[in-house]
Amino acid sequence: MMERVMMNDSMMRAFALEKTGPPEVLKLSTVPIPSVKPGWVLVKIHGFGLNRSELILRAHEADEEYIKLPRIPGIECAGEVADPSDSGLKIGQRVVALMGGMGRSFDGSYAEYALLPQSNVFAVTSTLPWAELAAIPETWFTAWGSLVECLDLQKDQKLLVRGGTSALGLAAIQIGKSFGCFVAASTRDASKQPLLERAGADLVLIDDGTLSKQEKSVNLSGFDAILELIGPSTLADSMALANKHGKVCVTGILGPEHVIHDFDPIKDIPNGVALMGFYSNYPNQETIDAIFAHIETHGLQPIIGARFSLEEMREAHTLMERNAAQGKVVITVD
Ligand SMILES: NC(=O)c1ccc[n+]([C@@H]2O[C@H](COP(=O)([O-])OP(=O)(O)OC[C@H]3O[C@@H](n4cnc5c(N)ncnc54)[C@H](OP(=O)(O)O)[C@@H]3O)[C@@H](O)[C@H]2O)c1
Repeated sequence: MMERVMMNDSMMRAFALEKTGPPEVLKLSTVPIPSVKPGWVLVKIHGFGLNRSELILRAHEADEEYIKLPRIPGIECAGEVADPSDSGLKIGQRVVALMGGMGRSFDGSYAEYALLPQSNVFAVTSTLPWAELAAIPETWFTAWGSLVECLDLQKDQKLLVRGGTSALGLAAIQIGKSFGCFVAASTRDASKQPLLERAGADLVLIDDGTLSKQEKSVNLSGFDAILELIGPSTLADSMALANKHGKVCVTGILGPEHVIHDFDPIKDIPNGVALMGFYSNYPNQETIDAIFAHIETHGLQPIIGARFSLEEMREAHTLMERNAAQGKVVITVD
C-alpha cells in the first residue's frame, strides 16, 4: 500500500514505530531531520537492508522497557555523509553504518536521514549501486565475523551453513566458496535448492531437524566448521555433525528456541568440538575494509531477494515474514 506525505526541508519521511504488532503498525510519517551533535554523524540514507531482528522488534521486542517508543527501526544503512559534525568525515563521503544500538537504543535507518554514532559509521570506497551496497553491512559483517573471526575458516575445509537460505546464510555460502571450501547448506524447503546452488553450495541438505542422521551428511564424516543459524533447537544435532576439533558457531536464532534449558556443557558438547557464538554489535573499520576488499577481489555480488521503496515497507516486512524473499530484502530511498 503506497503512502504519501507532505514535507519541507527540515523534515524527513520515516517510520517511527509507536506500538508492536503486524506489518500494518508501520506507518510512514514526517518527523524532523535530527540535529547534529558532537560524536554523531548525519547520514543521508540511500538504502538499507531488512533484518530478521527488525521483524522481532516490530512484533514484540519494542514492548520491552529498554526500547523507548516511538523509535525508528533499522539496524543498518548505506548512504552519504550529510553533516560530519566533528568526525573528520567529508560531506558526500559514501558510508555504511550498522548496529551499536541503532534502531533500538537510538533511531535507525527506516528514514531518509539518520543521526548515528561516529563509531558505527564506516567510510567505503566501493562504487557498487546503492541497492547492492545496502545489502552488505550487517549481513556480510556477521557472516565474515562468524566464519573468519570465530570459525577461522581455511581453504579446503568442509563448511556447513545451517539455515542457508537466510540472507546471512547465503552470504556465508558465498564467502565459504571464495575461501576454497566445500560448502554444504541446509533448508527446510526443497524448492529453495536452486537458490542455495546459485550461492555456490556444493551440497544441499533438506533440514528436518536431524541432519546428523541423514545419509548425505553421514557420508561426509564430519564438518570442520558449522555455522548454526537455526539456533538452540538444532544445536545438539549440529554439534553431532562436527568432526574432532571441528567448530560450531551459533549466530542465528531462526528456530523457535532462543535459549537452551538444562544445558550440560560437559555431556552436551561432544569431545573435541569447539562451541562459540558471534554477535555483530561491535563493527570496526578494519573488518569493513577487509570485507569490501574480499568482495571486490573475488567479484562477489550480494544476493538480493527483493527490492522495495520506503513506501512499500509493510510489503517488505510481510515478504520476509513469509520466508519468501530468497535473498536480502533491500529498501532503496530516493
Ligand atoms: N548474531 C548476530 O549478531 C546476528 C546478526 C545478524 C543476523 N543474526 C541472525 O541470523 C539469522 C538470519 O538472519 P537473516 O536476517 O539473514 O534472516 P532471513 O533472511 O529473514 O532468513 C530467512 C530464512 O529463515 C529460515 N527460517 C525461518 N523460520 C525458520 C524456522 N522456524 N526454522 C528454521 N529456519 C527458519 C527460512 O529458511 P527455509 O524456509 O529455507 O528453511 C528462510 O529462508 C536470524 O536468526 C538473525 O537474527 C544474528
